[in-house]
Formats: sequence, structure tokens, C-alpha cells
Amino acid sequence: MQHDLVDRNRRDSLQLLRIQNDLNAIALAMRDMLDNEEPYPLTAWSAQFQRVRTDLTDALRLEEQFAVAHRTPEQRQYLASSMTQFWDAVDRIFALAQQGKETEARSQIRLSLQARHAAIGTAVARLLVENNESEEQAAMQVTQIYDRVQRQVYIFLAATLIGIALTSLYLIRSNRQLFARLETLSEQRSELAQKLISMQESMLSHISRELHDEFGQILTAIGAMLGRAGKHVQEDTPLRSDLREVQEIVQSTLNNVRSLSQALHPVILDEAGLESTLDWYIPSVERQTGIVISYEKSGVPFKVDGTAAIHIYRVLQEALNNVTRHAATRQAWVRLRFSETALELEVEDHGSGIVTQSAKPGKGIGLVAMRERAELLDGSLDLLNPKEGGTVVRLRIPRERADGHVS
Ligand SMILES: Nc1ncnc2c1ncn2[C@@H]1O[C@H](COP(=O)(O)OP(=O)(O)OP(=O)(O)O)[C@@H](O)[C@H]1O
Ligand SMILES: [Mg+2]
Repeated sequence: MQHDLVDRNRRDSLQLLRIQNDLNAIALAMRDMLDNEEPYPLTAWSAQFQRVRTDLTDALRLEEQFAVAHRTPEQRQYLASSMTQFWDAVDRIFALAQQGKETEARSQIRLSLQARHAAIGTAVARLLVENNESEEQAAMQVTQIYDRVQRQVYIFLAATLIGIALTSLYLIRSNRQLFARLETLSEQRSELAQKLISMQESMLSHISRELHDEFGQILTAIGAMLGRAGKHVQEDTPLRSDLREVQEIVQSTLNNVRSLSQALHPVILDEAGLESTLDWYIPSVERQTGIVISYEKSGVPFKVDGTAAIHIYRVLQEALNNVTRHAATRQAWVRLRFSETALELEVEDHGSGIVTQSAKPGKGIGLVAMRERAELLDGSLDLLNPKEGGTVVRLRIPRERADGHVS
């Protein structure tokens, strides 16, 4: 629209101005021709008229091209025929002048030529005004279109922004819900695991105590009674040797029961505390597995509470079990550190190291249980990679939880 109407209109107006300019030149020439004081004959203006005519014809041709779009056939016809009539009159006047009829020619100029000239001038002026008006209208329409487009762009932008904001809000909300649910689930799972561990621990200690106290007592009593009964039987009789055999069986069962009881829950832990338990346990692991364990104790020892002690002992058990089963090495280091603020247990090996792939959930529950035990004591469990390769399991318990003096 901008191109078709506004630009064409401008070019058309330029041609109309050119025509107006030519008409002015003709008006001046006519004025001079009618001026009686001019010494030249009328034919002297013929060349000037010819020049103007060529320019006018060209201007009119161009103007008609640009004006095609919005001008009626009558309008075009009118300008063209007025022009032809005007030039016919000019030709006639110069013909009269050539024949020496200067006075008649002048009166023709005054009577018909000036009137025709004025009519063409008016028509051109009207076309110019029309062009201006339609250009203004077009400009207004273009502005309206731009306004409309601008409004639509704003509406579209606002709608998009609102859409983005709503989607984001929805996503944030559902993410929050999802995370809250995950958190609850994870808390519940952890709670369950810790309950199971505590239950298992109290059950094991109960069974261990029953085995040790009940069956231990009974077996000891049976052994003693068998010993006494043997004394009443004569030597070298089959009954005597049977009695001895049964007595040996009772003794070995008693030993088995004791070591089973010890394995389930070391009585020594309750009776002598964590440090003594480790002093007994570590050499026994060395004996059973053939792994060389360097055990270091540092810091100023404090008494470790029974609950904390059993969890620390279980973590050590599991960590050393893992070294035996997975690390593919014959050496390990155990460090127990007492400090002002915490109790730390470290189990280090320079074996194959934990491959993340093999430590994925579902394979074993040793590491998970170690973590849960650490959490039960408000502590932390870290798996580190020493620079020599292998694994360090580090359990850290806050002192007030380790010594049982919770504030
Ligand atoms: N000290 C270690 N050296 C090398 N790999 C280890 C070590 N400790 C654990 N791993 C790896 O991590 C995995 C997970 O250990 P985790 O104790 O959780 O399970 P597990 O020992 O396989 O089974 P579970 O302890 O339940 O009997 C092990 O399967 C093993 O591949
Ligand atoms: Mg394990």
C-alpha cells in the first residue's frame, strides 16, 4: 500500500509540478507576446513554445503512467483533450503571425489561448490537491495499520509472557510437590532402616545373651555332672569312655555356643567397652582372614556409650568384611581417633577401590547400613580415595553422641 499509493502519488505530484512549471513559462511568454512594447514579432516565441511543448508532452506521458491507479478515464481524457486543443490554438496563432496578421493573432491569444491556459492550470492544480488528499488518507491508513499491527504484537507478546509465566509456575509447583514427596519417602525409608537396625541389634544382643547365659549355664552344668558321674564308674569300662566322649561333645558345643554368642553380639563390648573390644577383635580378624591390620589409637580416650559402641563395632566389622571380600589386598589400616569434638574411626586399604558401578543400589546393603548407623548417631560416613589407591571408610561421631552425654 505504501508503495502503490504513497510513492506513486509523490511521483505523480512531481510530474504535475513540472507541468505547472511549464504552464508558468507559457504564461510568461504569453504575457510578453501581448506586451506592445516588445520589439520582436510573435514568431520569435515559436522556438520557446516548441521547447516547452516537448517537455510538457513528456511530463504528461509520465504523469499518466503514475496516475493510472486512481484517476477516472474522464479526468485523463479531459487533461489530454484540453492540452490538444491548447496546442491547436497555439499552432493557429503562430500560423496567423506568420501570415503577418499579428493583431488578429494577439487577440486570439487574449480571447481563447489565455482561457484555455487558465483551464489547464486549474485542472492541474485540482489534481495536485487530490493527490495531496489521497496521500494524506493513505498515510493515515498506513498509520492505522501500523497501530493495529503494533497492538497485535503487544497482545501476542503479553499472551506469550503469560503463557511462559503460567507454565513456569506450574512446573515450579509440581517440582516442589515432587521434591517434598521424595523427601518424605527418603525420610521414611531412612527411619525404617534405622528402626530395623536397632531392632536387629537388640534381637542379636538378646539371643547372644540367651545363648551365653542360658545354654552356656546348662552345658556347663551338664559337663560338670558328666564329670562327676564318670568318677563313680570304674576305669576302662565302655560306660566310662562313653561318658568321656559325651563330655567332650558337650565341651565343644559349649565352645561353639560361646563363639556364636560372641559373634552375634560381643559380650566384651558391654563389659569392657569399645577399646578392649577392638583390641580383641582386630587380632581375631587377622587370624581368621590372614590380612595384616595396623591398628592405631590416638587422642585422649573417653568412655564410649554402649549404643554408640555397638554401631561403631558393626561399621568396623562391615568395613573389614568388605576389605576381605572386595579389595583384593592383604593389608589394612584401622585408626581410632578421640578428639575434643568427635570420635573418628577410619578403615583404609590400598586395594582395588570402590567402583561406582559396582556400588550401585541393589547389590549389597553394607554401605547403606553403615550410613544409617552413622545417621543414628548424628554422625557421618564418608568413602574416600587415598592417593595410593583403594578405599578409606571414615566414620565420624560427634563427641556428645559417642560418650552418651547428649545435651
Ligand atoms: N574396600 C573395598 N574395596 C573395593 N570394593 C569395595 C570395598 N568396599 C565395598 N566395595 C564395593 O562396593 C560394593 C558395595 O558394598 P556393600 O558392602 O554395600 O555390599 P556387599 O559387600 O557387596 O554386600 P553386603 O555388604 O550387603 O554383604 C561391593 O559390592 C564392592 O564392589
Ligand atoms: Mg559389604
